[in-house]
Formats: sequence, structure tokens, C-alpha cells
Amino acid sequence: MELFHNKNTSKHFLKENIDERKTLHQNLDFTAAEQYKLIRANLDFTLPENEKCPVIGVTSAMRGEGKSTTAINLSYAFAEKGSRVLLIDGDLRIPSIAKKMQIESSPGLADLLRGKGAQLSEFQSYIFKNWYILPSGDVPPNPSELLGSNRMKNVLSALREMLDYIIIDLPPVNIVSDAISISSLISGMIVVIREEYTEKKELERCFRQLKLSNVNVLGCVLNEAKSGGGAYGKYKKYKYYRSAPKGQKS
Ligand SMILES: Nc1ncnc2c1ncn2[C@@H]1O[C@H](COP(=O)(O)OP(=O)(O)OP(=O)(O)O)[C@@H](O)[C@H]1O
Ligand SMILES: [Mg+2]
Repeated sequence: MELFHNKNTSKHFLKENIDERKTLHQNLDFTAAEQYKLIRANLDFTLPENEKCPVIGVTSAMRGEGKSTTAINLSYAFAEKGSRVLLIDGDLRIPSIAKKMQIESSPGLADLLRGKGAQLSEFQSYIFKNWYILPSGDVPPNPSELLGSNRMKNVLSALREMLDYIIIDLPPVNIVSDAISISSLISGMIVVIREEYTEKKELERCFRQLKLSNVNVLGCVLNEAKSGGGAYGKYKKYKYYRSAPKGQKS
């Protein structure tokens, strides 16, 4: 049973991944799915008005806080509403979207950035015909430069013409500079915070960095929230960030 193209087929591994599947797209329980719809609705208020195809980055302070899970479920929520949405695996260091979505990891973003042409239809998901998933492609040696490059800008501009939303899963801010590098090419960033996991000092460092780099933070997703509504994130504007200067747009 090769569920995730991984050689480790111990019972423990399979159980973990079966559990993981319950946290993704159509497998979500009602409460969790509703939370993502709420995030989708809130984003429509927070995103710059009248912008053609907003590009939303998803990042966090550290690894393992739920960025990829959030990026998948949020893009699913937009697609479910009928929007044409593309999910991009922009974590070119430790990509995970292909594995989580059980698709091939190549061709993908790295190939487009190398100049390889492709049709959007090649990346259509098996779930909705209006949901496209662009995996990482083969991991390149210089992700940070690539993500902030003119090529990336051109790839995004071309994709924007064909879509309603683009959501990019990014690496964590406190570990590598990739999320900051791409920030001037996107409409804004969502920061994922995992309850009882994200350390306060790491979160403060992350927001300091985002503020210094003039990143447009759209809001935060509190992942695996124990308090309030459901198991999934309450979405709210991060108080500390309300008066932050807006980031540049492409
Ligand atoms: N709300 C949740 N409830 C239960 N499990 C969750 C939840 N969010 C994430 N997970 C699990 O936590 C693990 C890390 O999540 P995910 O891969 O989305 O994080 P990440 O921030 O993208 O990690 P990385 O920094 O390594 O890319 C995964 O196994 C995922 O299934
Ligand atoms: Mg991830």
C-alpha cells in the first residue's frame, strides 16, 4: 500500500498519514470546513479591493505550524465556491503539497521558473476542475533567489490572467528568507500560528521581520485552536499588526 510514495510503510507511518488525510480538503469535518469558509470570507474583505486575481502567501514563524494544511484547505474552500484557484508549492526547500495531495511532484514551479512552458490544464486537480495544483518540481539550489526573481514575477502575471485566486505555500520566516523574497510580488501574507506549539518569542521575531520587510500581512490563522469555535483556526487580524505599513504590490 504505497499511499504516499514513501518507502516507510510501518503501521505507525500509515496511521500518521491517514490521520493527516482527515485534516485535508474534502475529508474535513463540518466544523473545520466551516472555519476555512470563514477565513475565505474574511479574506475577501481584507484583500485589496478590485485586484485581479489576488496572490496570497501562507507562512509562519517555524516549521510544522500548519502552513501547507492551511494553504490546501483555503484553496479548496475558494474552489468549492466556484472560483478558479491555483495552489502553488512555494516551499522549494521541503516541498509537501505533492505528497499531501498524492500527485507527482514534477513538473512544477521550479520547471516553470527554469523557462519550461506548460498548460494550466496540466495541473488541474482530481477534485474540482477549477482547482489547480502546481507542485514544487525538482528542488532547485537557490530557492530564495528564484522566488523573488523577475521570472517568478512573469510566471505570476501570466497565471493571474487565467485565475481568480493564487495561494502560495511558503517556508517559515524565521528559518529562511524565501517568504520575504517573494513578498513584493504578492498581494499579502497569511501567518499561521499553531496553538500550544508556536513559541511567543519566535512569533515576535517573525512579525518583527515581516514588519521590517514591509510585508502586507492580511491576517493570522490560529491553527488547531483549543479555545473558541472548532478544532481549526479562528481567523482574525493580528492586533499588533493593524497599523503596519502596507507592502508593495506587483
Ligand atoms: N489543525 C490540525 N489538526 C491536526 N493535525 C494538523 C493540523 N494542522 C496541521 N496538522 C498536521 O501537522 C503536521 C504539520 O502540518 P503542515 O505540514 O501543514 O505544517 P507546515 O507548517 O506546512 O510544516 P513545514 O514547515 O514542515 O512545511 C502535518 O502532519 C499535519 O497533518
Ligand atoms: Mg509545509
